[in-house]
Amino acid sequence: MQYVLITGASTGIGLELAKIYASEAKNLILVARNEEKLKKISMELAEQYKIQVHYYPADLSKPESAKKLVHWTRENGYEVDTLVNNAGFGSYGEFHKADLKNEWEMLQLNVMALMYLTRAYLPRMVFQNKGGVLNVSSIAGFIPGPRMANYYASKAYVLSFTQALASELNNTKLKIAVLCPGPVRTNFFNRAKFNLSKRLLPTEKFMMSASEVARYAYDEYQKGEVIIIPGKPTKVSAFLARKMPMKFVNWFMTKFQ
Ligand SMILES: NC(=O)c1ccc[n+]([C@@H]2O[C@H](COP(=O)([O-])OP(=O)(O)OC[C@H]3O[C@@H](n4cnc5c(N)ncnc54)[C@H](OP(=O)(O)O)[C@@H]3O)[C@@H](O)[C@H]2O)c1
Repeated sequence: MQYVLITGASTGIGLELAKIYASEAKNLILVARNEEKLKKISMELAEQYKIQVHYYPADLSKPESAKKLVHWTRENGYEVDTLVNNAGFGSYGEFHKADLKNEWEMLQLNVMALMYLTRAYLPRMVFQNKGGVLNVSSIAGFIPGPRMANYYASKAYVLSFTQALASELNNTKLKIAVLCPGPVRTNFFNRAKFNLSKRLLPTEKFMMSASEVARYAYDEYQKGEVIIIPGKPTKVSAFLARKMPMKFVNWFMTKFQ
């Protein structure tokens, strides 16, 4: 049986994507740390949409977790034909004062787990010439981000990596896409200890809801878009980030952050 595997499906953008895939009658494998939430969501979606939903509680910031997850899906014969690498977190503060363990775990989750799961599930998709990968980056992937240096760099990896993959698989039927949202109303900012009220711009005004972002991402992914940027302000920001002199971008981001 074929499944859509979504990491970070217990809340935020990942949960909203899970609801959309469920409503399209796709079987799901939901991954996150919070077992209680995953169990509840799985039962509700399975019941409502008459689909198979399995959940796998895991902390993907631990090096062995992604490997164990892949092993578990193979052992159970769950074929992953769509992979949504959504789980991720940020951390706010100057890098020289940062908690190295937290920074390490962030890279392990945002980059290494994403890379590992992609490498694990992609060969079968290529062999069958169907399915695909949706990786969640950010508008942060386009620019360096003072005071969130490591987070922005991790999202630049995801953006670059996914675009290159899409080019490598250009002559297949696979969909390879990268989602680059601007600010989204989720728990992300709390976890990153990022105080929105102190920002230079009224960021909250531009915030999208997780359900809006997920709906846009799903629709664009189905159309075969590679770089998916939800919302006009974020599209404009991404455009400017690529067109403005880097010196100006760095000055602006230092003020903004
Ligand atoms: N919110 C924004 O403004 C924004 C903007 C651009 C990009 N993004 C990106 O969007 C993605 C989703 O974030 P979100 O905004 O929806 O944030 P969120 O509400 O905090 O959701 C994050 C999800 O990832 C899971 N997760 C966190 N750490 C994990 C770990 N170590 N192992 C496994 N799962 C883990 C969380 O579940 P558990 O806590 O249960 O593990 C949760 O399901 C992230 O990659 C983020 O970088 C967010």
